[in-house]
Amino acid sequence: MQKTKILLDENDIPRKWYNILPDMPTPVSPPLNPGTKEPIGPKDLSPIFPMELIKQEVSQDRFIPIPDEIRDIYALWRPSPLYRAHRLEAALKTPAKIFYKYEGVSPAGSHKPNTAIAQAYYNMKEGTQRLATETGAGQWGCALALATTYFGLKCTVYMVKVSFTQKPYRRSLMHLWGADVIASPSNLTNSGKKILSKAPDSPGSLGIAISEAIEDAASHDDTHYSLGSVLNHVMLHQTVIGLEAKEQLAQVEEYPDYIIGSVGGGSNFAGISFPFLRDKISGKHDIKAIGVEPTACPSLTKGEFRYDFGDTAGLTPLLKMYTMGHEYIPPSIHAGGLRYHGESPIVSQLYADKLIDAVAYHQKEVFEAAVTFARSEGIVPAPESSHAIKCAIDKALECKKNGQKKTILFNLSGHGHFDMGAYDNYFSGNMKDLS
Ligand SMILES: Cc1ncc(COP(=O)(O)O)c(C=O)c1O
Repeated sequence: MQKTKILLDENDIPRKWYNILPDMPTPVSPPLNPGTKEPIGPKDLSPIFPMELIKQEVSQDRFIPIPDEIRDIYALWRPSPLYRAHRLEAALKTPAKIFYKYEGVSPAGSHKPNTAIAQAYYNMKEGTQRLATETGAGQWGCALALATTYFGLKCTVYMVKVSFTQKPYRRSLMHLWGADVIASPSNLTNSGKKILSKAPDSPGSLGIAISEAIEDAASHDDTHYSLGSVLNHVMLHQTVIGLEAKEQLAQVEEYPDYIIGSVGGGSNFAGISFPFLRDKISGKHDIKAIGVEPTACPSLTKGEFRYDFGDTAGLTPLLKMYTMGHEYIPPSIHAGGLRYHGESPIVSQLYADKLIDAVAYHQKEVFEAAVTFARSEGIVPAPESSHAIKCAIDKALECKKNGQKKTILFNLSGHGHFDMGAYDNYFSGNMKDLS
């Protein structure tokens, strides 16, 4: 029988996260105070983040220990399985070997709990009572609602209005885990009111929801803010994905030629690729890491590399990143988690240094790939993750054309069980490409 699932033992859950910062050929530019244009220090961030996360944000330690309390919770679903996509390979008639790391096995259904657990833990340790956050498709909001439940914290989630309407059961899941969910833009914050006064029917965006959550945290002493992507400490926490995948591939004596992940703010792509990029930077292995984005929000492939705000209202420090501009409101594609105007500063610098590649796809071709995957492998992918599937299929078909036996690894960052409305839309024939 051929091996399909490559599994690790609970003891193999990584004991340390991998921090790529000390290995980067060009250091990441520091966040700036928008008023003075000077780099910001830990004191500027302490009203909204716990000190341990602020330290991780700038740490130059290559490996950072994962506390046992976090590993104990990771053990509920980690190590996640690595699959060999035998059936997809057969359907494509490709000589390529396709592997995917499946993060949909977490209780929230995506990779997001890998950092949510860590963020809730450090906040609990430092006495935070409540966390405020934004969510696009609802995956991140669910992850933080879950994590705050584990540690007895309260949670308020500003959910982008278009997803609030499109994905009612994601809302229900956040409620189930005890969070308050508010459609954004809302009338509860000045940032929300300002947007609504100009555009009462605004579908919302991640940038707007971030403004609302930061304003909420900054105006309540017992509340901190939590971000599900973009920041360095989020990329760090997600490296458990790639660290495990490396061990799993070693078990079957493989090493990837291509590593593929969808990119919203960059965290699942960072998670799967950074531990392998370490080998590329040191000259040990040549790999091609590809970030996949929607043509509706093409920050890497069409954005500018410059300082910009991380949110729409301009409440965050300035971050040097690929950006569509902080006022850009992406079209309402179904992959709500990819509707972010910017990109992780680390991923951006790696892209500027040509250490990683990027590609953008239209919504319909992404769903076509998702259906091919679901009809061969069975798992129903999230629309965000399906961007990675589309790219993996393209690479596998290239291999078929050129007779190459390359090894492709992609991150299946989440399941799409709450996205059936999007699949219905695809099968109705009315889906728009929206870009
Ligand atoms: C399943 C899934 N994949 C990917 C993403 C994109 O985010 P990131 O680039 O931070 O991984 C999201 C964001 O919500 C998501 O829910």
